[in-house]
Amino acid sequence: MNAAKRFLGQFQIVRDIHSKIRGPRPVPPDVDLRAIEAKVLPPDLQFQHLATQAEKIEGMLSAFSMAAVDMMLSFQEGLGAKGSILEIGTYRGKSAVILGAHLRDAERLVLVDINDYLDRAAIDPIKDATDFIVAPSEKLRSALPGYRTRRGSFRFIHIDASHGYEETFQELGMADELLAPLGIIALDDFTNLNYSQNIAAIFKYLFTTDTKLTPLVVTDEKAYLCRREEFDLFAPLVLNTALAEMKSRGIDPVLARTSFGAEYKAFYLRGRLPEEEGGFYGESIYRTAIVGGG
Ligand SMILES: C[S@@+](CC[C@H](N)C(=O)[O-])C[C@H]1O[C@@H](n2cnc3c(N)ncnc32)[C@H](O)[C@@H]1O
Repeated sequence: MNAAKRFLGQFQIVRDIHSKIRGPRPVPPDVDLRAIEAKVLPPDLQFQHLATQAEKIEGMLSAFSMAAVDMMLSFQEGLGAKGSILEIGTYRGKSAVILGAHLRDAERLVLVDINDYLDRAAIDPIKDATDFIVAPSEKLRSALPGYRTRRGSFRFIHIDASHGYEETFQELGMADELLAPLGIIALDDFTNLNYSQNIAAIFKYLFTTDTKLTPLVVTDEKAYLCRREEFDLFAPLVLNTALAEMKSRGIDPVLARTSFGAEYKAFYLRGRLPEEEGGFYGESIYRTAIVGGG
């Protein structure tokens, strides 16, 4: 078969027919990467105040992830997402402080942990809108009151618990059920190979179930997933504003995308290395993928 294809491929007419069947390749959008890099937003003083509050609490959320989580939540809010916020794995409440600052209207923050380590003072400003459930994530379907009716009602879900293989797979399954339209799931320790089972369970879930979830942004700490049909709503926000948004939160960022395919087109957002110039990794080679071309 391959030999036949190679033989036929020699003829221009066959190549022409092949390209007609395949259809035209998508033209890369006309995006001005210099203008994107040059974009400047005023320092986000509200975020800086919030980060200072969160810094006081013992926990595992880095300055980079505080900024990234805050930015992803603001992207969602800009798109009009509505729904409560869930965290599986709260520890003392460091990440909960960042999440809780984004509650609006009647939205609730639901915190789940197998142990009660929660620093009540940390979440005092949002305590009336917060439910704290002490239970293993495996029991969430029974431990979360009204679980069935709350399917599709959480717009942001942060998973930062045991990182066990089975547990992560199950947590992702529940998060998928609970996720609201325009929802984002953030998975911690995505690239921490001390917990290599975590990334294995995540990719098993993404590529062997009938989920609609897909990676939108990955960082050295977390993966942010959205629904495939909503990717194109989030992607322009990431491409056009993530650099400026992260800078406004005190982070000097670089954005990479070296592949743009139907199954995988996530952005990688990270801090700039000392020798790096420019906001886009490998721009001269990967420009087409960065801007979202075929
Ligand atoms: C890394 S800490 C969370 C850190 C927190 N998100 C922060 O930013 O500071 C992990 C938490 O997950 C909890 N945990 C471990 N296994 C769990 C499980 N099966 N179900 C729910 N929580 C679990 C632990 O008790 C611990 O508090």
